[in-house]
Amino acid sequence: SAAEKGGYDWFMRKEIFEQPKAVADTLLGRYTAAGALQLDELHIGEDELRRIDKIIIVACGSAYYAGLVAKYAIEHWTRVACEVEIASEFRYRDPIIDGSTLVVTISQSGETADTLMAIRHAREQGAKVIAICNTNGATIPRESDAVLYTHAGPEIGVASTKGFLTQVAACYLLGLYLAQVRGTMYDDEIAKVMEELAATPPLIQQVLDSLDAIRELAARLVDTESVLFLGRHVGYPVALEGALKLKEIAYLHAEGFPAGELKHGPIALVDQGVPVFVVVPPQGRDQLHDKVISNIQEVRARGAFTVVVAEAGDPEVGAYADVLFSLPKVSTLLQPLLAAVPLQMFACEVATLKGYDVDQPRNLAKSVTVE
Ligand code: G6P
Repeated sequence: SAAEKGGYDWFMRKEIFEQPKAVADTLLGRYTAAGALQLDELHIGEDELRRIDKIIIVACGSAYYAGLVAKYAIEHWTRVACEVEIASEFRYRDPIIDGSTLVVTISQSGETADTLMAIRHAREQGAKVIAICNTNGATIPRESDAVLYTHAGPEIGVASTKGFLTQVAACYLLGLYLAQVRGTMYDDEIAKVMEELAATPPLIQQVLDSLDAIRELAARLVDTESVLFLGRHVGYPVALEGALKLKEIAYLHAEGFPAGELKHGPIALVDQGVPVFVVVPPQGRDQLHDKVISNIQEVRARGAFTVVVAEAGDPEVGAYADVLFSLPKVSTLLQPLLAAVPLQMFACEVATLKGYDVDQPRNLAKSVTVE
C-alpha cells in the first residue's frame, strides 16, 4: 500500500532514500569513541582470526558485487589474500579450503540456495564461515559460525539497494576488525578510516539530493538500447552494480567493465550516441584517476555520450563529460558508498518512465531458494 511505501511510488525508491540511515544503523555500536572496532558479537576467537591465511567471499547478485568491493579494502588492510566467488560456481570447482580459510558469505535474505550450498560445502571442508546478512535468524546465518548483521531494515524491492550499501559497510567493519586483531594497521589508521566511514551517511544524503538531475538524464536516455559502465579499482564493481540495476528493473542491455580493459575489447561496442557511464576514482597519488580520464576521452572520441560520476572539484572531468554527477570528496575505498547511489536512482527512474513494475521485475525473485 501507499502507506507502507511511506509516500513513495516504489519500495525501491523508498529504500534508496533510506540508505543514509541504513548505513548509519549498520555502523552503530560497532566502534568505540576512540575509533576501535568492537565486534564481540562475532563470537569467533581472536586467535582463530589470527590463524586465517585466506579469505573467500561467496555471494550472488548484488551481494557478490559488494564482495568485489570489499576485496580491495580487505586485502589492503589485512594483507590476507581474498578471493570473491559467485556462490553457484564455488563448490563445483573443488575449491582449496581448509581450517585456516575464512569464508565470508554475503546475503541480504539469508535464504539464497546457491549461497547456502556454498557455505555448507565450505564448512564440510573445515572452513570457518562468517555471514553478513540482513535477516535475523535466516538459514544462512544459522548455518554459519558467526554472523554480522546489516541493519538495513526489511528490503522489499527485488533489486537490492540499501542491502548492497550496508553489505559494503559491514564488510568494511569486518576488514578493519581483522586488521585490528591481526595488527596489520595502527590503531590511529583504523580510527581514521572508521571516522571517515561514520561520516558517510550525510554524504549519501547529499548524493540523494541530486535526484532532479538524474530524472532529466533518465528522460534523455529512456529510449537507448544499451548502456556501458566503466570503473576502476573499487569503481569497477560499482560499474557492474550499475549495469545490473538497469538489467533487473529497466530490462536494458547494460554491461560493466574495468576501464583498463576497454582497449581489449569493449571499446568496439562504442558508437555514436552510446551512453557510457564512468566512475572516476578520486584524484590521488596513483595514476588511476588520470588513466580513467583518458578512457573517457577515448570513448568520447568515438561518439559516446559520457555520463561521468566524479568527486566534486575534480578539475579534469568537466571537459569530457556530457553529463557530470559530482560526489562529495572521500577516499578511494569509501567512494562506492556514494558512487553506487546515482546509478541506483538512474535505473529506478528509467524503469519508472518505461512504465515497468520497479518492485516486481519480470522473471526475478527477491530471494532465490532453489539452486
Ligand atoms: C536475487 C535478487 C538480487 C540479489 C540476489 C542475492 O537474485 O534478485 O537482487 O542480489 O538474489 O540475494 P541475497 O538475498 O542472497 O543477497
